[in-house]
Amino acid sequence: MRARAFSLAINDKGFFWNEEFLNRMNNRAERIFSFDPALMRGARVLDLGARFGFWSWAAHNLGAAETLGIEGRAESAARGDKLLAGLNHRFEIGNAFDIMPHLVAGGQRFDVILNLGFFYHIYDHYGMLKLMDALQPKVIVIDSEIVDLDEAVVRIRTEKTWEPNNAIPEKEGQKFSAVGNPSRGAMELIAECFDYRLEWCDWSGLTAADEGCADYRQRRRFTCILTR
Ligand SMILES: C[S@@+](CC[C@H](N)C(=O)[O-])C[C@H]1O[C@@H](n2cnc3c(N)ncnc32)[C@H](O)[C@@H]1O
Repeated sequence: MRARAFSLAINDKGFFWNEEFLNRMNNRAERIFSFDPALMRGARVLDLGARFGFWSWAAHNLGAAETLGIEGRAESAARGDKLLAGLNHRFEIGNAFDIMPHLVAGGQRFDVILNLGFFYHIYDHYGMLKLMDALQPKVIVIDSEIVDLDEAVVRIRTEKTWEPNNAIPEKEGQKFSAVGNPSRGAMELIAECFDYRLEWCDWSGLTAADEGCADYRQRRRFTCILTR
């Protein structure tokens, strides 16, 4: 079994993880990094909706050469800068839908794209996959709230933009943003449109003792890996 990606040593960098959150993050990491480990060695990694850059940090521990975090909130990235100090990492602050076209126009490519805890904070899932695809990744990992249905639907809802984990406002003073949770069927449909093979990670076998993972256990949240 692979070494656990995270430990409570992260608290030395100014965070306040407890055992439950640590267990959640390590369970997520086991699925998120279940693709061929060779793909991570020396990789350029894009971390979308990076918040504090925990996943960029994990990517470096697994051999990534360079990480770029896109984060809509400057105060979150500023905390991440401290975590990632000394590593080949930088944040770009702003809306991923505005920043990614510039990366594409600049001819940038990424080996691995981490879209973690982000896909349910957006409205345009097809447009996001189009942008990720234009960066020519070998692997895309999506970890998201997803509706447990074969039917291809997106459940639109609103989200409070003042919560730091949520969608960012589209204009100054906007309090609520429209976002959507795609279904399993919708994920498979849009992946197929861009010729990706989508594999669902196995979250079965969790028990109530797996603290911090209730949303995965209850099939409200899933992880999938897109490759060609
Ligand atoms: C739930 S957090 C995910 C943190 C981390 N990736 C994880 O999985 O643990 C979502 C992050 O996406 C950021 N975000 C939301 N909408 C964004 C957008 N359109 N562009 C860039 N960042 C955005 C939020 O500020 C927040 O930090």
